[in-house]
Amino acid sequence: MKVGIIGSGGREHSICEIIKKSNKVNQIFCFPGNAGTKNISKNVNLNLENFTEIKDFILENGIDLIIVGPEKPLVDGIVDYLEKFNIKVFGPNKTASQLEGSKIFTKKICEEFKIPTAKFQIFEKIDNAKNYLKKVNFPIVIKADNLASGKGVYICTNYNDSSNAIDEIFGGKFGKAKNVLIEEFLDGEEMSFFIISDGISFKSFGTAQDHKRVLEGDKGKNTGGMGAYSPSRLISNLLEKKIVNRIIKPTLNALKKLNTEYKGFLYAGLMIKNDDPYLIEYNVRMGDPECQTILPKLETDFIEIIKNCCEKKLEQTKIKWNKKKSLCVVLSSKGYPDKFKKNIEIKNIEKIILDNNNYLFHAGTIDKDNKILSNGGRVLNFVSLSENFSETKKNVYNNLKILNWSEGYYRRDIGFKVTD
Ligand code: AMP
Ligand code: GLY
Repeated sequence: MKVGIIGSGGREHSICEIIKKSNKVNQIFCFPGNAGTKNISKNVNLNLENFTEIKDFILENGIDLIIVGPEKPLVDGIVDYLEKFNIKVFGPNKTASQLEGSKIFTKKICEEFKIPTAKFQIFEKIDNAKNYLKKVNFPIVIKADNLASGKGVYICTNYNDSSNAIDEIFGGKFGKAKNVLIEEFLDGEEMSFFIISDGISFKSFGTAQDHKRVLEGDKGKNTGGMGAYSPSRLISNLLEKKIVNRIIKPTLNALKKLNTEYKGFLYAGLMIKNDDPYLIEYNVRMGDPECQTILPKLETDFIEIIKNCCEKKLEQTKIKWNKKKSLCVVLSSKGYPDKFKKNIEIKNIEKIILDNNNYLFHAGTIDKDNKILSNGGRVLNFVSLSENFSETKKNVYNNLKILNWSEGYYRRDIGFKVTD
């Protein structure tokens, strides 16, 4: 089989590595990939906004299956487009992708199907939003409706900050804004819960907790994620039942009522408060870096699962996991998530210890004249697995020390709630 992966981050490199293990696959393409995927796949630099270009390449090269990593092409409808040409593609369609593309779409489903989530109000006018602020208890959460790479969310403790947030959102900081969402602040612990679905049935696909803030102690600005660990320390059979019955099943039923279905990974960002789950947001893809943390635990052939999903045979597919504790630390460029330099050489990569329990997934890297250069905010993902989180953490940080990249930054406290 020939498989194509759309995306260029750590998530896509980890997907690429796991596909490499499958004896069903003889060629992998990455669009556009990174310096890590280049060793195991053919990196092809296509314009991800140009679906015609992507479709032409897939058909000309006889690619049998496409896996879409990031949300943007999904929200833009790449699945609907490619399926028109009978291309097998794993990911949700445009309607279902609104679960991530529009917070208001999701909130309306929560309201109609009684899915537990923060109480919310939607405002189309600045004045009405600001008047409402005069009556609320702080902290309060203010959100832009559209895709904002995790940045369109403000947690405000007073009127002035909230008022500025509303001005910034309506001022177009996250793209043209028709409305703003003001919601109740949920106080609890966050976890990420994943499922895989073929449109008919679904199965759990692991749990994780990520560290979104840039500074140690979960402080500072929000990022795409500075590290993660799997499984979540919060998950139990009882909590999983509550998540599935109160959140996942009603959401998939809601999509059926809209005459559509969900095929792909679905990532529920949850707040757990007094052992009860509340939906914060949906993502229509695997998390990054959660994916890098979860996939090395998988024992079933990944491509078999994905192919079966595309053929609506998920129900008969057994998914086996090992019980190891997995932890990922992200090495970023210094300065991320603000300004950072690019094109800086990363030496010592070949010295890193890699085996069945230790992985290195590239994100923002390119390969030039046989050198690896940094090319983005999040640069490398160090992942280890072992029987307990403390040992896992030791192994990850050992490898980071071996690399010793002076232009990089990483948090030294990833997994602090589960390690010594
Ligand atoms: P989102 O993009 O909706 O996931 O929000 C980004 C981050 O903001 C989440 O991961 C939470 O840490 C935080 N957040 C969002 N909504 C709420 C809420 N209602 N209460 C508390 N924290 C929230
Ligand atoms: N790690 C957060 C995300 O993938 O959205």
